[in-house]
Amino acid sequence: MVKTTISLIKADVGSVAGHSIPHPRMLEACRRILKEGVKNKTIKDFYVTRVGDDMQLIMTHDKGENNKDIHKLAWSAFLKATEFAKKYHLYGAGQDLLSDAFSGNVKGMGPGAAEMEFEERKSEPTVFFMADKTEPSAYSLPLSKIFMDPFTTTGLVIDARMQLGFNFEIQDVIGHKGITLSTPEESYEALSLISDTYRYAIKRILCKDEKIGVAAVVSTDKLNVSAGHYVGKDDPVAIVRAQSGLPAIGEILQPFAFPQLVAGWMRGSHYGALYPCSVADSTPTYFDGPPRLCAIGFQICDGMLVGLEDPEKGENAVGEHMPLDYFEGSVWDVTRRQSMNISRYMRGHGPFMPGTLASDEMEYTTKPEVLKKLADRMKPLI
Ligand code: F6R
Ligand code: MG
Ligand code: MG
Repeated sequence: MVKTTISLIKADVGSVAGHSIPHPRMLEACRRILKEGVKNKTIKDFYVTRVGDDMQLIMTHDKGENNKDIHKLAWSAFLKATEFAKKYHLYGAGQDLLSDAFSGNVKGMGPGAAEMEFEERKSEPTVFFMADKTEPSAYSLPLSKIFMDPFTTTGLVIDARMQLGFNFEIQDVIGHKGITLSTPEESYEALSLISDTYRYAIKRILCKDEKIGVAAVVSTDKLNVSAGHYVGKDDPVAIVRAQSGLPAIGEILQPFAFPQLVAGWMRGSHYGALYPCSVADSTPTYFDGPPRLCAIGFQICDGMLVGLEDPEKGENAVGEHMPLDYFEGSVWDVTRRQSMNISRYMRGHGPFMPGTLASDEMEYTTKPEVLKKLADRMKPLI
């Protein structure tokens, strides 16, 4: 049976005005390039969207993960959008394209990628998470709740297919190493690592039932490490498959009702409360935030994306989809209000910790220069 691959590749290559929202012409440029990709059979289907100042390319195909043609297609789309951003002096034009030449894989070159290959079940409900102004480990707490915590996912207790548990691939994002831990047996070891959100992040979650395969994947390509210096928080994406032996959509969304504090926000150097919202509401407007999270849903059918659009509209409509926008509704108002209250409280600390991150985690800091300048005045105080 042919396997389906989903590649969700994202980048921030410029926005209007400040780090706010990509220009519609940039999204259009990406759509044009991906349409070409469908025409010449590199990909089967696609959807282009944005969260805050980041653009996300959702692509489906049968070429597997880390495929050169797929990554090249995404790179060309971002390059085309960058041309427009540069021409009109948009803010941060081309910021996530760290190299002038494409080398076969977007990893380490700036964009973030979450990819999964699986054999399609009879029905494939899939959630795409996309965040702005935060880092990959922002997904660690909700993913642990979804796949490890029976008080969140009752399915772990009452659905026999889930009782086996899951394997967690955990990445040491600084040390470029990883480990796979088996839950529930090694849940505490797993939590001991991933609760350190600075150093560890969940990369992938695999179903122990091999017939189902991969359950979730997160983009964990740290921009600071790839660039050699910090050029921005990753604004990570994640893909989660749902239902029939995997957590239900409702179990997957539920943990986001807790507005957890995440690193990022203004100058990638503050703690703010994660704000779940619709794509339309994802423009950062309060202190460049608060860190936003969007979740959209598609069914996958024979390698094609199915949302609420008419799937029989014909060739001209390729790439034109209407996904479900999960955080759009009023149910999430209470979390948004709470998130704003917490974020405003955190701002009360001004530049003091814990309003800001520890200095070696900060995207911006003047501390080394200040210490250097003051070095010979720094003396034991009597
Ligand atoms: C965070 C972000 C913004 C900028 C901030 C300062 O990811 O994009 O919060 O860090 O607006 O930006 P510059 O230094 O470009 O003025
Ligand atoms: Mg930006
Ligand atoms: Mg961003």
